[in-house]
Amino acid sequence: MTRREFIRSTSKSAVVLGAASAALISRQNVLGANDKIGIGFIGCGGRGSGHLQLIHALTTQDAPLRIVAVCDAYGPRLRNAAEGYQAKAYKDHRELLADKEVDVVCIATPDRLHVPQAMDAIRAGKDVYCEKPMGHWSQFELSKKFFEETRKLGRVVQIGNQANSSSAWLKVKELIQQGAIGRVQHVAAGYYRNGDWGERMPIPDRNARPGPDLDWQAFLGDAPKKPFSVERFFSWRSFLDYAGGPSTDLFPHVLTPFISALGLKFPSLAVGTGGIFKYDDYGREVPDTFNMVMDYPERVSINLVCTLTNAYNSDPVIRGDGGTIMLEGTDFGAGFRSIKLHPLKGEPTEIPGSIPNSTLEHWKNFLECVRTRAKPVSDVEFGLYVQAAMCMAMLGFLKNKVARFDPAKKRILL
Ligand SMILES: NC(=O)c1ccc[n+]([C@@H]2O[C@H](COP(=O)([O-])OP(=O)(O)OC[C@H]3O[C@@H](n4cnc5c(N)ncnc54)[C@H](O)[C@@H]3O)[C@@H](O)[C@H]2O)c1
Repeated sequence: MTRREFIRSTSKSAVVLGAASAALISRQNVLGANDKIGIGFIGCGGRGSGHLQLIHALTTQDAPLRIVAVCDAYGPRLRNAAEGYQAKAYKDHRELLADKEVDVVCIATPDRLHVPQAMDAIRAGKDVYCEKPMGHWSQFELSKKFFEETRKLGRVVQIGNQANSSSAWLKVKELIQQGAIGRVQHVAAGYYRNGDWGERMPIPDRNARPGPDLDWQAFLGDAPKKPFSVERFFSWRSFLDYAGGPSTDLFPHVLTPFISALGLKFPSLAVGTGGIFKYDDYGREVPDTFNMVMDYPERVSINLVCTLTNAYNSDPVIRGDGGTIMLEGTDFGAGFRSIKLHPLKGEPTEIPGSIPNSTLEHWKNFLECVRTRAKPVSDVEFGLYVQAAMCMAMLGFLKNKVARFDPAKKRILL
């Protein structure tokens, strides 16, 4: 039996035998260190291209990996990626998933497609690196189902919250867990940008229309069936049907290290505020200024603020009953320049930080777990904790309500 046949036969058996047996089979499903893992890329836009570059660089350093196939709903991007990396080109992600040479997939499509495509992938027996946010703000129940199926099928899933692979953020976690600032009660952090370049995405071809080179229905997925527009297709971050603005695009990076360092799960309460305070000139629907407050049952409050109208930075502060940690020069997905540790008594100390290539480390962690069947550092369960907070703040904001969480039923209450 070849390695691929083995992987596929174990995943088929896993479905039949159920969760307990699936866990056992997964543990036995160990790839040899020199077996090349075949990777397929779904979504070859900005982020997908970055992932392709990163994996290509690893293959040139003899890492046992292979870029097998690429998929995109927009022909020019699909051809560009396929030609650039001599990969097979698929217009439809289900065709890529049927390719037996693909062992794992990277999903970097618009937010609303992540969970449906990832569920198709695990059902096809693939392991998944799925970009953040884990899902769209309207998809909490579906995200929960994705988590449950991942466990049932014994698949390995890494959500693209790459701060969990940063040695800098790990240092903060260590300090907190060693009691350097006592028990933490309060976190204040933010994300600030000058200008709206993150969401105002360039339109490469104003004359593009649905047809053989542009699959509008595939782009829509389970979104409302609105008529095509180039703005919606290329600048999807501006529209509520496909994105949520700062809460879902930027806050996953901000919240991730605090959830990890403090060992948090689901918030008990979340409030979202903000609106379109500047960029109201081109049909934008998502807020350009957004704040969210979350209280956790562990008796800690996390306050995140964001505006895309002014990049003047404020450093994140973690306050405990034994001291304070302040992080200077923060780049949330990666790390920071230094840690200022202020104990309640005694002199403050400064610990050098770093800004590592956390996405590279995140991939390495994922690929290692594909071989060992261990849980990656941003496993689907961790992804769900981050996702719950985002969904609660966003739903509360849109409905002008305080969102609460029922921990027994794992449901958002509004
Ligand atoms: N972790 C990070 O630091 C990070 C950074 C940037 C982006 N991201 C995430 O990556 C995702 C993609 O962002 P982006 O900036 O690359 O967007 P993008 O628009 O540049 O790329 C998305 C690509 O998906 C394609 N696509 C649309 N529907 C498809 C379908 N049904 N099947 C296959 N392809 C389809 C589009 O044609 C496009 O090429 C977002 O969810 C974003 O939040 C994460």
